[in-house]
Amino acid sequence: TVPKEESWLSANGGVYLYQGFWCSARGLKSVISFQRHFQAFDSDVVVATFPKCGTTWLKALTFSTLYRTQFARDEIENPLLNFTPHQLVRFMELDVYLENPFPDLENICVYKPRLFATHIPFASLPTSIKDSKCKIVYMCRNPMDMFISLWNFISKLRYQSQEPPLSLDEAFDKFYRGTYAFGPFFEHVLGYWKASQENPNKILFLKYEDLKEDISCQLKHLAMFLGVPFTEEEEKQGVVEEIANICSFEELKELGVNNKGLHAFGVPNEIFFGKGKVGDWSNYLTPSMVERMEKLIQEKLVNSGLTFKFSSET
Ligand code: A3P
Repeated sequence: TVPKEESWLSANGGVYLYQGFWCSARGLKSVISFQRHFQAFDSDVVVATFPKCGTTWLKALTFSTLYRTQFARDEIENPLLNFTPHQLVRFMELDVYLENPFPDLENICVYKPRLFATHIPFASLPTSIKDSKCKIVYMCRNPMDMFISLWNFISKLRYQSQEPPLSLDEAFDKFYRGTYAFGPFFEHVLGYWKASQENPNKILFLKYEDLKEDISCQLKHLAMFLGVPFTEEEEKQGVVEEIANICSFEELKELGVNNKGLHAFGVPNEIFFGKGKVGDWSNYLTPSMVERMEKLIQEKLVNSGLTFKFSSET
């Protein structure tokens, strides 16, 4: 009786509607383990995103900012040089709880305070995350770029598993109906947006486009929110620029660790890096898709106060 839809990849065997969002059968088991067994600490930091909104980037930035004094410059190299952002900041429901319903989190989160990631909507987060003083850093992205990024990602996965290509029309239809893992997109973004408005000390709401526009300013904002503001001395030494640089699309993409090998759930690491631009949607979406998308955005965001930037010029 649970609503079910075909998933992007036939190997995933469909997505199911659970607490108002769509989830694969395998993912659902680990979402439930995470919800039931996870106990948040007040000091925890959670990176939360909708897929393809810049999770990889946000993981790298949060990791480097939060732990910067633990791998002081010139002494211990930033672990980002040798490990992928997804190895350093692990997904709870897609990785940690997938392997084990009672994971040893003390060992999994090597650095302290604990830092981990999730794609679960705000309303479905484990209760202790919502009730404790732990902090959540959320990043969203305009839906047109997010959709094209997702379509490119799925197309690469389908090619890798020798599945026929997914046409842009089919993918758009799915996006429009919201029937894909962690969808619908708008409900996800609005859930975190509203929570961040109600409790700005707990949830920092970031936008991919703002980070692209002024990374130093957003990094300082992130550090302040995390309770580890950059000191004057650090700013003079260029630490902010150093973090922005090591986490930049160009740097991360070129690192050997990110352009070979497989991610925890069998996804090649390199496909987390596409073009890393704002406005790439204009190279793909047809005028009628843009029109439908604009209408949908208007309907969903009306009276929310949330807006998106769709190009780097606006
Ligand atoms: P594109 O497909 O538009 O290029 P996620 O990490 O949530 O899976 O999101 C992937 C998107 O973020 C991809 O977008 C990818 O190129 C982009 N991305 C990855 N690392 C980035 C970085 N360091 N800076 C900016 N964008 C990045």
